[in-house]
Amino acid sequence: DLGTTYSCVGVFQHGKVEIIANDQGNRTTPSYVAFTDSERLIGDAAKNQVAMNPKNTVFDAKRLIGRKYNDQKIQADMKHWPFTVVNDCGKPKISVDFKGEQKSFAPEEISSMVLTKMKETAEAYLGATVKDAVITVPAYFNDSQRQATKDAGAIAGLNVLRIINEPTAAALAYGLDENLKGERNVLIFDLGGGTFDVSIVTLKEDKLFEVRAAAGNTRLGGEDFDTRLVNHFAEEFEQKYEKDLRSSPQAMRRLRTAAEQSKLILSSSTEATIVLDALYEGVDFYTKISRARFEEMCDDLFHSTLDSVEKVLNDAKMDKSQIHDIILVGGSTRIPKVQSLLQTFFGGKSLNLFMSDEAVVNGAAIQAAILSGDKSSQIQGVSIVDVAPYLLEIETTGLVTTKLMERNTRIPHKRSIKFTTSSDNQPFVNIHVFEGEPASAKDINLLDNFLLYRLPLAPRGVPKIDVTFDVDVNGILNVTAQLISEKATKLRVRREDKIRLTLVEVVCLSDEAKEYAAEKEKERQRIAAHNQLKNYVLSIKQAADKAGNELDHSDKYLVLKKFKETIKWLDANTTTAEKEDYDYKLKELTKICSATLAKMQLSADGSGPQPSYCGKQSCNNVGGNYGGSAVKEVD
Ligand SMILES: Nc1ncnc2c1ncn2[C@@H]1O[C@H](COP(=O)(O)OP(=O)(O)OP(=O)(O)O)[C@@H](O)[C@H]1O
Ligand SMILES: [Mg+2]
Repeated sequence: DLGTTYSCVGVFQHGKVEIIANDQGNRTTPSYVAFTDSERLIGDAAKNQVAMNPKNTVFDAKRLIGRKYNDQKIQADMKHWPFTVVNDCGKPKISVDFKGEQKSFAPEEISSMVLTKMKETAEAYLGATVKDAVITVPAYFNDSQRQATKDAGAIAGLNVLRIINEPTAAALAYGLDENLKGERNVLIFDLGGGTFDVSIVTLKEDKLFEVRAAAGNTRLGGEDFDTRLVNHFAEEFEQKYEKDLRSSPQAMRRLRTAAEQSKLILSSSTEATIVLDALYEGVDFYTKISRARFEEMCDDLFHSTLDSVEKVLNDAKMDKSQIHDIILVGGSTRIPKVQSLLQTFFGGKSLNLFMSDEAVVNGAAIQAAILSGDKSSQIQGVSIVDVAPYLLEIETTGLVTTKLMERNTRIPHKRSIKFTTSSDNQPFVNIHVFEGEPASAKDINLLDNFLLYRLPLAPRGVPKIDVTFDVDVNGILNVTAQLISEKATKLRVRREDKIRLTLVEVVCLSDEAKEYAAEKEKERQRIAAHNQLKNYVLSIKQAADKAGNELDHSDKYLVLKKFKETIKWLDANTTTAEKEDYDYKLKELTKICSATLAKMQLSADGSGPQPSYCGKQSCNNVGGNYGGSAVKEVD
């Protein structure tokens, strides 16, 4: 589950889904990537340092992915982001300072880094390489956003088995978990950190999950409520102190974190207090916010969710009364006002907070198991029919438009159309494909141009071309063309698009990611060797101290001398020594001290010193919890 604010990874094994905790022990990982003078941080480590490094800490990549730089929505979001987004030939890229250099990253790359972290989390748990994955997207993502997410997976070295819609995944988890009887219409209401989806899924008794319609807004979620709070507090600060803190990224970041925390409090209390010492130019900011005031400032946003509910009912040709279950998914559905609006809309019907944070990842893992042929009885016979939320049209000569696909058409969907040339010896045909902005059929955007080229030279109207538009199970459009002649010949199709990464770029970035992973692995091994040596030397000292009279003076002297020497060497070489240097030192030290240690008749409880073989997760804190107990832990 590649979320706007948090991501989550799960695996289906032994007939059920297991959610995998990351190296910090958390079941969700912040979708944050930070760049510093010396390293790249992902997840908790990145989010934890955000107040110190706001300009180089990137989040919200899901709001950028698959969009053009001049997309109005990106322009609006840019005002709130502390990091810099630049225009790279029409694509948005995030520009940061990394290891003393200016670097820019495509949103796909940032997402790939988050995916890499999730991949590593799963690999640490499974003790094996993870190759295949199912990745989630909002149901309301369009073709470009889906393709870009798939590319992010490829850059992370993953074979993307499927791009699955988040509400569909949630429905899958719900349907299989609840053992429901009879046919049921389930409305999935998913309001997360950055996106809002509402889908109606019919669960049939023969384990058929049929998505009837999807609606939503790919730019509505907790982040927008936070922004409203931040603006409110910034204005309040200005009124009170006549100072505008908006120019300070640090102050704004601290304010945003506090605003989000107050929002969480307001879900269970009617008032929240904010205390920020020396927030801006030495001024402390203490204030309160009531739930009523928060609800008032987000009123339009909360109400807009109901417009999507109306729309999805309309598209599914259903009446409110036909909905059997309402499932709430996503962190922002904990907001009492969001719940009460929805409940009132459905005439007081009770809402189901089924696994609200983990339903999506559960469904994704189930989908992955189905696609990889898992034989567990729970998932036997499950089938899913999904829809694409956007419409597609093409424009050909004379500005005639032809509809390729209506909104909420079942996918995969294939349609072939015949074309010909309009002038003599025309070498190519250009087809404009338009995509209906899912919100309304009126807002039609040019998706891409497809160029069919290397046509045989012939008088106009003679070449007959069959073009197939195929929206696959991932909701991604593929176009192929064939020349109809005695011998059907495949025509080359070039997609001319402004935002998609080319295949070459994806391969290059994937190589870069691999190089980076190799570098990181080397550094990890170096730190592990450092810790191993440090733990060993600390533990022999501890053992010598404890040994009392069991050890004669000269032995004790030797151990303490070696201890001092090694600690001094470690202090001087923490950043410069290689793994091999640490290994060599450890070997030498073990050789010198082993005879002495044998004399100590080490206690049977195993607390005696032995070189520790540090596991991956325990080595993250250099100079962290070492000493005797650390050795015991690792053993
Ligand atoms: N108790 C709560 N009250 C209000 N908001 C909450 C609460 N708990 C979490 N949130 C908000 O929920 C959001 C995170 O939800 P979630 O993890 O479902 O989103 P996501 O998966 O990262 O995003 P998306 O699905 O939109 O891509 C954050 O904005 C967070 O502030
Ligand atoms: Mg989510």
